[in-house]
Amino acid sequence: MTEFKTLRGMRDLLPDDAGMMIYVQETARKVAKLYGYKEIITPLVESYELLTAKAGDEVRSRMFAFKDLGGRDVALRPEFTASVARLVATSMRNEPKPFRIFCMGSAYRYDEPQRGRYREFWQSDFELVGTFRPEADAEILMLTDSLCQKVGLKRFGLKVGHVGILRGILGQEKVIEKDQNAIMQLMDKKQYDDAVKLVESAGVSKKCVRTIRELVVCRGKDIADVLKRIRELVKDYENSVAAVENLRTILELVNKSGYKIDLTVDAGFARGLEYYTGMVFEIFVPDLDIALGGGGRYDKLVELFGGEPTPAVGVAHGMDRMTLAMETQKIDLKAKEERTIIVVPIKEELKTEALKIARLLRDADMLVEVEVMGRKMTKALEDADRRKTDYAIIVGERELKEGSVVLRDLSKRDQRIVPIGKLVDEIKR
Ligand code: HAM
Repeated sequence: MTEFKTLRGMRDLLPDDAGMMIYVQETARKVAKLYGYKEIITPLVESYELLTAKAGDEVRSRMFAFKDLGGRDVALRPEFTASVARLVATSMRNEPKPFRIFCMGSAYRYDEPQRGRYREFWQSDFELVGTFRPEADAEILMLTDSLCQKVGLKRFGLKVGHVGILRGILGQEKVIEKDQNAIMQLMDKKQYDDAVKLVESAGVSKKCVRTIRELVVCRGKDIADVLKRIRELVKDYENSVAAVENLRTILELVNKSGYKIDLTVDAGFARGLEYYTGMVFEIFVPDLDIALGGGGRYDKLVELFGGEPTPAVGVAHGMDRMTLAMETQKIDLKAKEERTIIVVPIKEELKTEALKIARLLRDADMLVEVEVMGRKMTKALEDADRRKTDYAIIVGERELKEGSVVLRDLSKRDQRIVPIGKLVDEIKR
């Protein structure tokens, strides 16, 4: 018989890993609530045409695409933004603006598997639809900061750029959109020399080539200083200047609102997806050279799908990579978890009493297991210890006659007799 394994790039998450993943997902859901994002659920399989419309070559070439039994070209979603834009263009088109949408689920890309890069991964996706104002871009950065803080990351930073800076130059130099996209894709892969070569071959001015060469190395953490340098470089390109000013406004809003985000501005920063029209950003942590999340403004996508012109900005956080960063930063989930309890009857006849006590505790929202292997007390406690259970409740005849049980603190290894009616208070204490 063949020994079946998961497919390359696909993983089973066993309880510890699944626990981390669920913790991060629940935190994302909490952040969505705090910022007013309403959760929606979209299909995992969508039309190939929809998903590839503005995905960019990189994502497009790595799709899980196939023909369904009806002969339609379909694919597993590589992200959520296309699905949300489809909704905004169709069933949500009359929704009063702005609206805030949250979705969470698995996404699929045929990436080369490595640490933090899988073929099935999870995203939490936030989209703020219907406004072009910088407050919206700032909000997306802020909620990203909140999520990283709430999962407990101690060190993280955001790299921020604006696609309008480069596109402003290329547009004014009459580089066609297809070439612009190819240039941005190379920038995204940090192949700056190749990108500059492509710019040169597009028949642009010498000044343009010089400007782009200097731009791609223009980055830093002193926001005012970097923006000043970028502005000086692009001063002859009207749309690029507007992009720099837009980025300045967004980042000032973030800073002045009391969010202490570690920001790096990078003029040559581009993203693989093609739908971006404004501010773009990614989350980074020390010790991992992959982004924990990324997003930006996309003001033309809804229109492309047949909707009204609708500005929007959003972000997707990579849940798998968030858990990886938590592990590298040694964030202990156990400390955040609730106490666990096992109820052990001393003998067969006390089984129902044990079940009753378990129910009583669960009614008070406590996490309770009941011994189901018919083990003797010592064996049952050994097993509870192995599984790092916090408390054991030992149900014995003698204590039960007095309406009590033995409550044993398994980490401190001490125990006392507690009346059943006081168990909940005693454990909570
Ligand atoms: P993205 O940068 O392609 O953006 O993906 C967002 C995040 O998903 C990445 O930063 C990463 O954490 C995670 N991710 C992507 N590919 C993989 C993979 N193969 N394995 C593990 N994690 C991965 C988007 O998807 C956009 N839809 C974000 C957005 C929303 N822009 C506007 N709204």
